[in-house]
Amino acid sequence: MGLEALFTPYTVRGVTMPNRFVMAPMQRHKPDDFIPSRDHAEDYRARVTGGIGLVVTQGTTMDHWTTSSAYARLFPPAYDGWRACVDAVRESGGQIFLQLWHEGANREGGYGPSGMTAAGEVRGTPLTREAIKEIIEVYARSAAIAKQIGFSGVELHGAHGNLIDQFFFTGSNHRDDEYGGDLAGRMKFGLDATRAVRQAVGDDYPVSMRISQWKAGIYDAQPFRTPGELYMFLQPLKEAGIDMLHASARRFWIPEFEGSDLGYAGWVKQLSGLPTIAVGSIGLDTDMHSSFAGKMAATTGEAGIAELARRFNRGDFDLAAVGRAVLIEPDWVNKIRDGRFGDLRQELSTQEIRGTTVLRNYTLPKSES
Ligand SMILES: Cc1cc2nc3c(=O)[nH]c(=O)nc-3n(C[C@H](O)[C@H](O)[C@H](O)COP(=O)(O)O)c2cc1C
Repeated sequence: MGLEALFTPYTVRGVTMPNRFVMAPMQRHKPDDFIPSRDHAEDYRARVTGGIGLVVTQGTTMDHWTTSSAYARLFPPAYDGWRACVDAVRESGGQIFLQLWHEGANREGGYGPSGMTAAGEVRGTPLTREAIKEIIEVYARSAAIAKQIGFSGVELHGAHGNLIDQFFFTGSNHRDDEYGGDLAGRMKFGLDATRAVRQAVGDDYPVSMRISQWKAGIYDAQPFRTPGELYMFLQPLKEAGIDMLHASARRFWIPEFEGSDLGYAGWVKQLSGLPTIAVGSIGLDTDMHSSFAGKMAATTGEAGIAELARRFNRGDFDLAAVGRAVLIEPDWVNKIRDGRFGDLRQELSTQEIRGTTVLRNYTLPKSES
């Protein structure tokens, strides 16, 4: 089936991953004390022993007064817990990036460029320019802490209508200062955060950014409607110091623009020239939101994996991130490698995705991801 190349190592900024499979970032652990638990570390360990080469942690709330999500945080009492996650992954032969997350105005009482979600619903308060500058520093400080703790790299969550994406997107950014207006203005916050992170971690440390066309609440959004428009968005990210892009789509095989069968990740890689992660329904026929809305997700079995391999082998992307499939099947990658398609769970219910033992206490937050 041509899966061999998916099982070759890959190096970004000196960090070598043993293969091309990534565990997609998934918020699941909501400890009362905001500290990653032993179970949290063991969840990552199980995915790496099951064949994952790189774990991107669940979106991790940075330590600032404008953030208040209920998940594990990056604050001093949690550093040892995060270190245990790093150790669990390293002991199993994998690499681990910390996803730095700020949900912006997705929650009631939150803070965003204009206090609103991507869908334009006002839920919070517009950020002052002083607060914006503070948050940029928080990104830099958080990345430096991640490096100190021992993470292999960081990923800035710039997708799905969260804070950075709230600035990028016209629906949620109505500012008339230097952080709004045209594309350059709307990108300023994300680019300033990227430059600050790059300066904080130095040149020898991978900095990824997750980006998406879709936004929470507007799943068919396509702010960049042509390859030319997407190019204008990607090049500044590259120049600011991003060295890997995590191209989040709902389904990795859906053509992004007319006239070509390239998916979102394929275009992102071609237009940016950067190492690119594809994600979106790998191994499954139902996207995340339909799955949350109650639709049964069925495995795409051998045919779906053959399509993944076909696109990977022609150079569309460098790494493949798997979300729901590895939640339910920690050994998913090993089973694929060994051609054990018959051993894969054939159907996954919403209840299983939300409520298995690995998803203890998970309830879908307003921001979704
Ligand atoms: C329970 C759950 C939590 C998620 N949390 C995050 C998150 O913290 N950060 C993020 O960028 N994406 C998050 N996502 C999106 C996933 O990373 C991934 O993009 C999505 O599930 C599609 O991949 P899949 O089709 O393989 O599941 C989450 C998805 C799920 C199912």
